[in-house]
Amino acid sequence: MGIKILGTGSYLPPKVVSNADIAQSLDTSDEWIFSHTGIHSRHVAADGESTSTMAAKAARVAMESAGVDPGEIGLIVLATSTPDYNPFPSTACVVQDMLGCKNAGAFDLQAACAGFVYALEQARGFVNFYPDKKALVIGAESLTRILDWTDRSSCILFGDGAGAVVLGNDEPHGVASVNTTAHTILGADGAGAHFIMRTGGCKNALPVSPATGVPEKPQPYLPELTLKGHDVFVFAVKTLAKVCSDLCSKLGTTPEEIDRVFAHQANGRIIEAVARRMKLPLDKFWLNLETTANTSAASVPISLDQAVRAGELKDGMKILMVGFGAGLTYAGTYCVWPNL
Ligand code: UT7
Repeated sequence: MGIKILGTGSYLPPKVVSNADIAQSLDTSDEWIFSHTGIHSRHVAADGESTSTMAAKAARVAMESAGVDPGEIGLIVLATSTPDYNPFPSTACVVQDMLGCKNAGAFDLQAACAGFVYALEQARGFVNFYPDKKALVIGAESLTRILDWTDRSSCILFGDGAGAVVLGNDEPHGVASVNTTAHTILGADGAGAHFIMRTGGCKNALPVSPATGVPEKPQPYLPELTLKGHDVFVFAVKTLAKVCSDLCSKLGTTPEEIDRVFAHQANGRIIEAVARRMKLPLDKFWLNLETTANTSAASVPISLDQAVRAGELKDGMKILMVGFGAGLTYAGTYCVWPNL
């Protein structure tokens, strides 16, 4: 009884770009990229694909595997940093229409690479209050559309894709059914806001001239992501390990009792360092970034779906899902599969 992940789905665009492909136009190599990140290739959205089309594909698979009709979905929360439009309409609304989820409220959630865990927590609250409804939680990104392809320290890291889960609550008493084993940590550290940034929002769009008090020419729109990789690396290792161990303490368990960790796939060296800090064998951590690279908010749900389809996620397994990203944000949640 209680709140459960009823089904999972994912979508990776068929077009694949290898490190060797990137090295044809940039001063880098497969050897450097793989040894520094664990990435060999990434999926890239083709012309005509976007965050919404990939999200809808992943969500259809999740609804099918959950055995849930579009009309049963009461909420769509879509975590993304690369919405179809900037900033509205939300990509969640576009996806709601594509899926025919006519009874669903829909909104986007922006917590960068930690977005899926944030979105899951929103949806958990929703199905707790409305146990007769289902929620669709999606992480979807077209990161390759906002990269500076001349910056070898950032463009090699990212890929496109989408993952989704359907949440339901078979405890009919709603709020009274709060799952006492559910533990989540959501956090942020805005002091590192400049570590990963994409400008072009409303701030300074029309700066007022101090001399005349009249708005000056709008600043040029700079659509590319900028990254202070080393600072993010240090934050990531420290924070992911702390979130995992804090979750274990809250639960009165130890890291050794955790069966699987689904950590945001940013860099294989980050995951190795977290495993070392937690004194856990690396094979407890799901790893797919060799072929997916960093898909930001999509990385955790893509990993979950891959594990389900590979038969590696079995009922009763104790799992952690953890992420970190621009903001800076971080988040982690514990689940005795498939109960949240
Ligand atoms: O979801 C969150 C998003 N962001 C991240 O997760 C990023 C986390 N950070 C990282 O993954 C790593 O910091 C990077 C992979 C981005 C960089 O690895 P690093 O070991 O921290 O390298 P570095 O930035 O310290 O650069 C070392 C050298 C530099 O050359 P010099 O100045 O020592 O001569 C770079 O110019 O490596 C050079 N370099 C490259 N060389 C070949 C940087 N990128 C490349 C490249 N190919 N692609």
